[in-house]
Parts: sequence; structure tokens; C-alpha cells
Amino acid sequence: MQHSLEIKYQIISHLKDLEEGEQSLMLKAREALDNAYAPYSGFAVAAALELTDGTVLIGTNQENASYGLCLCAEQNVLAHAGANFHDTPIRKMAITARSSLRIIDHPISPCGACRQVISEHEDRHAYPIKILLQGEKGDILIFDSIKDLLPFSFSGNDLG
Ligand code: THU
Repeated sequence: MQHSLEIKYQIISHLKDLEEGEQSLMLKAREALDNAYAPYSGFAVAAALELTDGTVLIGTNQENASYGLCLCAEQNVLAHAGANFHDTPIRKMAITARSSLRIIDHPISPCGACRQVISEHEDRHAYPIKILLQGEKGDILIFDSIKDLLPFSFSGNDLG
């Protein structure tokens, strides 16, 4: 028997059409692109988290000449949240990117590994993380939970 899955998300055309808190979170992520260390790919990524107590945390990608050691922006900021605010759920995450090669005019999605890490943070607090994605310009995609980007996810429950 065949099954299908429906994924709900919003497309917002302009930053000004986001609610104020979301707009400012995306702008903070955008500002943080300057702090990315991406000399090898030229692809800067920034992720801004808003915790449920209103705290905002920022992460950017940090590359290494030993390419396999490159760290993604999302995982950096989530590790910081876990290390310093381990009791506080994450309410929202805004992700953006900028490339030295071309204008990024479409939303940039977190890589599979980052989706898995975001999913663990949702699970550990049993609190959905709203995900906002935008390139340097263009549409903003909004997902109410990382599970919309990572259906059939692997989790601690699977370990028994
Ligand atoms: N990158 C991120 O920071 N997050 C992602 O979700 C995808 C990729 C970074 C890693 C690397 O520094 C650069 O983007 C190009 O892959």
C-alpha cells in the first residue's frame, strides 16, 4: 500500500512581512555572516537562535584547511545553546548564507547532519523549533518544526 506525506510550510516574499521578532532574528543572522570563516568554499552561513527566554545566540560556519573538519553554522550555535543554556528550549532558528561566487537568491536549507542535530534539540526539550530560511534575498521559507525537513527521523527513542 502506498502512503504519502504532506509537508506544511509558509513562503513569505519580503522580510518586512515577517513578524517583528522573526524579522530581527533573520537580520541578526545576516549581520553574523561577516563572522563566518569560509576561506575555502567562499560560502558563509549564519544561524541565529532565539530561546524561549528571549536570548539570541549566533553561530557561523568555521572552516579548516583540513576540509573534513569544517563546522556548520547550525551545529556551532546549537552546541553553544546546549553547553550554556541546557535547560532552555529553542523557539526559533533563522538560517542564511552568502557566497563569494554568486548572489544567493533562494533559501538555503540546513544539511542533513544539521537537520539531525536540530532534531535532537527539539526532542531533548520536547519543544518544536520554528525554522526560517532565506538567502541574501528572495523568499523566506518557514517550517514549524525541523521534523518537516526531516521526516522519519532517527531519535533516541530508536535506541530503546
Ligand atoms: N554549511 C553550513 O554551515 N551549514 C549547512 O547546513 C550546510 C553547509 C557550511 C559548511 C561549509 O563551510 C560551507 O557551508 C560549504 O559547504
